[in-house]
Amino acid sequence: MDRILIRGGNRLAGRLPISGAKNAALTLMPAALLTDQPLTLRNLPRLADVDGFGHLLNQLGASTAVEGTSPAAFGRTVTIRAGDLTSTEAPYDIVRKMRASILVLGPVLARAGSARVSLPGGCAIGNRPIDLHLKALEAIGAELEMAAGYVEARAPSGRLSGGKYRFPVVSVGATENVVMAAATARGTSCIENAAREPEIVDLCRCLVAMGARIEGIGTDRLEIEGVDALRAATYSVMPDRIEAGSYACAAAITGGDLTLTGVDAEDMGATLAALTEAGVVVEPVADGQGGGVRVTAAGPLRPLTLSTAPYPGFATDMQAQFMAMLTLADGASVLTETIFENRYMHVPELARMGADITVSGRTAVVRGVAGLTGAPVMATDLRASMSLILAGLAAEGETSVARVYHLDRGYERLEEKLSAVGADIERVSDG
Ligand code: EPU
Repeated sequence: MDRILIRGGNRLAGRLPISGAKNAALTLMPAALLTDQPLTLRNLPRLADVDGFGHLLNQLGASTAVEGTSPAAFGRTVTIRAGDLTSTEAPYDIVRKMRASILVLGPVLARAGSARVSLPGGCAIGNRPIDLHLKALEAIGAELEMAAGYVEARAPSGRLSGGKYRFPVVSVGATENVVMAAATARGTSCIENAAREPEIVDLCRCLVAMGARIEGIGTDRLEIEGVDALRAATYSVMPDRIEAGSYACAAAITGGDLTLTGVDAEDMGATLAALTEAGVVVEPVADGQGGGVRVTAAGPLRPLTLSTAPYPGFATDMQAQFMAMLTLADGASVLTETIFENRYMHVPELARMGADITVSGRTAVVRGVAGLTGAPVMATDLRASMSLILAGLAAEGETSVARVYHLDRGYERLEEKLSAVGADIERVSDG
């Protein structure tokens, strides 16, 4: 199995390109199931999860055609065409490996009038139930049954009615599922307390490009007037604000100076504000084709008190990376994880590298230490793995991060991007 080997201590400097957003890609791809016309997605990141989702779409009968891009380029253009759905089932074997597969439920149900999707089960960061996906779909007319670990959904008379639903808790995935399903419902739907993450804005904009009628984009109240059919569109996946935030932490923890290109600083408000509070200099810069952010370390890192929250709050997907960074701050930080109940699996691994962290329930106290030391480590999820990479970049000596497949799910060619800005990092295969 592959490992990432880092010899720490190098200061990172230079330009680092940011890829298309994984979590936007994973909701834009199923949107293609809503129409028999082609959806062309540009800037789709090359990630294991994106490939996995492509295979699921293929199993449902959609074709995926990759445009010829040079192997050196980041991202690629893929045209998805779901001319006819030949299956309406997302099987357990796929859903258990990739939770985002649940996002085919809404579109397949809307398109075919029925869908059968495996329940995903728990995962490394928490229970992650899908009850809100189901309640929201029921509210717009779905009839649901549970059988043998699957949810079987039907739209009476073949088409969803539309309806009103207020989320008791903000859910990114459930909002995405119901918005996609409502786009072609017979009537109008109103979704309150909707998630308003930038990835949801991206999904809504893509749906609008396909002919959907959606009001309130970017707010927590979405009104969707169902249309009879959606049409072909070409859409560019938004930049990955979490990848960008992760590399911003890499600049901060190595005393470096990175210009992240192709990002939208506006989507990264809470992350950039927290970095600024930690004493890191953050400036939006103009970059040829789009935005960019320059992140420069300036003196010792200051400790922070942070609590994760739905957007526009501080993202749970940035918690592990900030924790790694704050292990070297000048004082004690307090981090509270409010979204997932089990998202501190990186703590014991960081401790093995010399970090001083105490977890009590949902709160972690991180006391800054003078330095970290390299060690063999492993993680159980994507962002936890990234926090170990960050610690390794700053640690003295060699760090080897096992279970690279987690990183390959969400960071496009991580070792290539980091070595280009001065990191001593390589992927090694133990055969
Ligand atoms: N929840 C329920 N019931 C549901 C759905 C969610 O109780 O039916 C709970 C969850 O257990 C959690 C909270 O609601 O406590 C929020 O979960 P949400 O549904 O918002 O998360 P998600 O859609 O499953 C997406 C991202 C995650 C990211 C979260 C929160 C994708 C593919 N995944 O997950 O990304 O952490 O939103 O922002 O978009 C990652 O990229 O590493 C990752 C885990």
